[in-house]
Amino acid sequence: MKSRKLVIAGNWKMYKTVGEAVALSRLLKRDLAEVKAADLIVCPTFTALKTVSDEIANSNLRLGAQNMHWEKEGAFTGEISAAMLRDVFCQFVIIGHSERRQFFGETDDSVNRKTKAALAAQLKPIVCVGETLAQRDGGQVEAVVTAQVKNGLAGLTAEQALDSILAYEPVWAIGTGRNATPEQAQEVHSLIRCTLAEMFDAATAAKVRIQYGGSVKPANAASLMAQPDIDGALVGGASLDAKSFVEIVQNGLGA
Ligand code: PGA
Repeated sequence: MKSRKLVIAGNWKMYKTVGEAVALSRLLKRDLAEVKAADLIVCPTFTALKTVSDEIANSNLRLGAQNMHWEKEGAFTGEISAAMLRDVFCQFVIIGHSERRQFFGETDDSVNRKTKAALAAQLKPIVCVGETLAQRDGGQVEAVVTAQVKNGLAGLTAEQALDSILAYEPVWAIGTGRNATPEQAQEVHSLIRCTLAEMFDAATAAKVRIQYGGSVKPANAASLMAQPDIDGALVGGASLDAKSFVEIVQNGLGA
C-alpha cells in the first residue's frame, strides 16, 4: 500500500460542447460515486467549466482547468486568470502540458510563473514534464526531466511543493497509443522524486504525488499505478468516454 493517495485526472483537451461535457460528468458522477481511495479530477474546456462545476457540486469529483495565465488580471486577450478559475470552483489546474509547450510556446519559465500564480490563488497545479522521442533516443531523459522539474518548481517552498502534483508525460506516448512501460515510467518517476528531495527535502519528496500520463487505458492502468512511485494518472483520450475512465479508476485502485 502506498502512503500517497492516488490522483486520477481526465484531461478533456479541446473536446466536448457544454452539453456533452455535462452528459459525461453525469455518468462519471453516477459510476464513481463510491470511490473514496482516489482523488478524481475532471478538466473540461473553459467554456464548460461553470456548468460542469454545477453538475459535480456535492460529488466526489473535483474540477480542474487545462491552463491559466500568471497575471491576476489585465489586457491579455484570450487569457484566463487563477481567480476566474477559483470563481467557478476549480481546485486544480494543469500547467505546462506538452501540447502547450509544443504548440503555444510555453517554456519552463512560463510554467514556473503559472505554478506560482496558481499556488498563490490556492489552486493546486498539476505540473507536466516529459521528454520527446528525440530526447529519449538521444539519452537525454534525465537531463531534460530534471531541468523541467527544477525550473518549473523553482522558488517554491516545501509546503507549496506539497500542494502541487507532478505529471510525467513522455511526449512520444501522448495520444499515440504507445505508453511507456511501467518500468520505463517508474524509472523516471523515481528520478523526479530524487530531484524533489534535492530541491526540498526527503520527507516532502516522499509525499508529493506524481501522475503518469500518455496513452493510459483500462488495460494498462493497473500495471502503471502498481509501480511504487506512480501515484495516479493524467488521462487524455480515454477520459472522453465514461466507461473507459471509470475502468481506469477501478483498475488503478485494484493495483
Ligand atoms: P493521452 O493524453 O491519454 O490521450 O495520451 C494524455 C495527456 O495528454 O494528458
